[in-house]
Amino acid sequence: MDLVREAFHYQSRFAGSTMVFKIDFPVTAEPAFPSLVKDLALLAQTGFRIVIVPGAKEWIDSVLTEYGIRSRYINSENHNSIRITDARAMPFVEMAAFHGAARFMTALSANHCDSVIGNFVRARGLGVLNGQDMEHTGRVEKILVKPIGKVLDLKMAAILPCIGWSASGKPYNVPSGEIALAAAGALGAIKLFIVSAEIPAGQNNVKNLRLTPKEAETILELNKDPGALPDLRLALAASKAGVERVHIINGREEGAVLRELFSNQGAGTMIYTDEYESIRPLETQDIPDILRIMEPLMRQGILIRRSVEDIQEKKEDYWVFGIDGQAHACGALHKWEKQGEIAAIAVDGAYADMGLGSRIVRFLVNQASKESLSRVFVLTTQSHDWFETLGFTESTPETLPEERRKFYNPERNSKVYVLEL
Ligand SMILES: CC(C)(COP(=O)(O)OP(=O)(O)OC[C@H]1O[C@@H](n2cnc3c(N)ncnc32)[C@H](O)[C@@H]1OP(=O)(O)O)[C@@H](O)C(=O)NCCC(=O)NCCS
Repeated sequence: MDLVREAFHYQSRFAGSTMVFKIDFPVTAEPAFPSLVKDLALLAQTGFRIVIVPGAKEWIDSVLTEYGIRSRYINSENHNSIRITDARAMPFVEMAAFHGAARFMTALSANHCDSVIGNFVRARGLGVLNGQDMEHTGRVEKILVKPIGKVLDLKMAAILPCIGWSASGKPYNVPSGEIALAAAGALGAIKLFIVSAEIPAGQNNVKNLRLTPKEAETILELNKDPGALPDLRLALAASKAGVERVHIINGREEGAVLRELFSNQGAGTMIYTDEYESIRPLETQDIPDILRIMEPLMRQGILIRRSVEDIQEKKEDYWVFGIDGQAHACGALHKWEKQGEIAAIAVDGAYADMGLGSRIVRFLVNQASKESLSRVFVLTTQSHDWFETLGFTESTPETLPEERRKFYNPERNSKVYVLEL
């Protein structure tokens, strides 16, 4: 039941928005592929604007091998290894690219979802790199947003194969990662999904990793091999290009896209643009500000009374939302065994309804997740409805950690709301 509730919440939040799916070619041969396409069809039918960028690399490799054409590659600063697509290879590359795209069209149509494979990408040749003529290897010049928009308006999925055409109609082989990146940016996609064949089946350690671009950058820096983690590299580039949320999903895992979209738990690695950048640890000089914010709420009994000393004592647990250097909202995460208590959420009245409160809560949930806590809970007398909108569900004082239960005040009779992580 909770799952259905969560799903409705996210459905209404995202419906009508554009999502781009870059899907590795080997995923199309996985047992999970039919259900992935079924989910994409469902999303398109329920009002999401679905853009698919099929990868074709492995299929191009096999077609070229079959026809006795050896691919040559070049390493460049930005691209790890790019295929030099010469005139002989190009017709085979086109054939392979459209074969990859057709797999999606066929599978979508079996799920009553129409789609259009189109020349939605204007490309330009890479020209000569380090003395090497790149011939038919190109890059995105622009994404043709209007025709894609028309297709999406009809609730059809738009499929962008890894081919782009120059203004004069010359075809170029363009890496699908670049097309996905450019399409997500140009279409104002709220999400880019990178459906990867790189993650081994059953591998769980990438689950629920929530990274800021800075954290992703650190991981990539630590990994000296420039060719390593191409999905993470692409995700970071997309996030820097303004895509709010980029998800790397295991293409072998059934239902991963829906889980990532419609549950609080998520299902893969996510890079989010740093909406939390204004949130920082509490400093001693913030205490008067946050007490000023809390005072009317404490007077009304909405928050329990806290003194300077109370806050100072647990200073490490507190975070503030700073605007122009001044704290305008706050919140705390207290740890009790494997659970986290979200407390002292308060927003300056002058900054109400601007999303500060929910951002602080999401931030604290994310912190709890990073610290491998199993759930977070909150005790509230008057804000339970608000916590419900953030995915929390009602529980009972009996479920509180033993140490915390000792301090539960039956007279105050706070409601207990929880979020499993
Ligand atoms: C609850 C609180 C933190 C919300 O902060 P905020 O920054 O204004 O909230 P957001 O901008 O993220 O969300 C605003 C939405 O929540 C709604 N909302 C705010 N307080 C609410 C409450 N107590 N119950 C239900 N909905 C509430 C607003 O009407 C608004 O709805 P809308 O988006 O449909 O217009 C803030 O009102 C507050 O400081 N309350 C007192 C302290 C408190 O109750 N803390 C929780 C216990 S620790």
